[in-house]
Amino acid sequence: MFSPEKFLEEITPQIRSVVGDSKVVAAVSGGVDSTTAAALMYRVLGNKVTPIMIDTGFLRKDEAESVKSMLKDIMPLKVVNRSQEFLGAVKGLEDAEEKRKTFRDTFYNTISIIMREENSKFLVQGTIAADWIETQGGIKTQHNVLVQLGINTERTWGFSLVEPLADLYKNEVRELARYLGLPRQISERQPFPGPGLLVRCVGKVTEDKLDVVRSANSIVEDALSELHPSQYFAAAFENEGQTDHTLSQKFKDEIFVYRTKATGVKGDVRSYGRMASFSFREDYEEIRQISKKITSLDFTRALMRVRSGKGKYTVVIRAVNTEDFMTADILEIKPDLLIQVAQRIMELNGVGEVVYDVTTKPPATIEFE
Ligand code: XMP
Repeated sequence: MFSPEKFLEEITPQIRSVVGDSKVVAAVSGGVDSTTAAALMYRVLGNKVTPIMIDTGFLRKDEAESVKSMLKDIMPLKVVNRSQEFLGAVKGLEDAEEKRKTFRDTFYNTISIIMREENSKFLVQGTIAADWIETQGGIKTQHNVLVQLGINTERTWGFSLVEPLADLYKNEVRELARYLGLPRQISERQPFPGPGLLVRCVGKVTEDKLDVVRSANSIVEDALSELHPSQYFAAAFENEGQTDHTLSQKFKDEIFVYRTKATGVKGDVRSYGRMASFSFREDYEEIRQISKKITSLDFTRALMRVRSGKGKYTVVIRAVNTEDFMTADILEIKPDLLIQVAQRIMELNGVGEVVYDVTTKPPATIEFE
């Protein structure tokens, strides 16, 4: 059984012996892991730690300000806006891994400049066990995993990493967060990936698409929070592609195949492939069967069409339940509610279709890239 008290007792001397009298920067993304790591360091080292949130332009709606205010009684959060640099770096990139790697390089180049200004040699990150296990397994390049990939941060960027949560799992991090007195909005918050909305702006990045993702994400969070799924959000991509007539005959339904690719897991390795959609149904047993049939055909995702109209983008609603985030089940959202959420999303500029992702992990990942 994990005891946050014991963990804190054991890690405090380790942190002190590694860091000594140096100044430390803690990168906070707004997610539970990085915020807990920063709060832990702040508890141990006090104002030798500067908690910083970089506004990458891929944060959720009003994120920087709301996290800053949620943390005001715990630690002073410094928000640094670098959205133009990040948007410039990833604009036009399409491949999921290329986007993640570019984001990562921009992130560490930016943070290394900030660290020089702060005269700090140690960077605190909220890396947890699942992050490096998945990256080592080749499933994806999780943006905060460096040492485990053989990247020497000291040689590349001039700082050393401190990852106090590297052996913990999500539920243990939440326990620690509660113990450290973080507000419930943080300790019970759903996870948010380091590269933020970038991995939900599926395929080529444009500001237009990013706006749709940000607004749709906020609608989904608002509409589904009462159901307490482990993770729930929206993603978007161009609704380009074509109806597959052979498959449509086989499924006795219109099967639409999108041009955009998304990530999945197959066996223990990452897959990256096309997604396909089918018509709306109410019966989740039937929905699950169709989803299995579609993903057995080399598609990474099965998407159920909820609402359609005119507009450039397909918005995907994603809502899953999971214990450890290594596997996940879909949330069986009641049809009425699903339609209601989809209708709200359809009102956003440029949205031509809303679908519900009905793929478990595996074969899909939780995020889209
Ligand atoms: P996947 O998409 O791999 O996600 O099924 C599993 C969990 O990890 C989160 N995730 C990330 N978290 N940096 C993070 O800090 C990342 O690069 C990253 N990618 C995915 C994801 O939101 C889910 O909770």
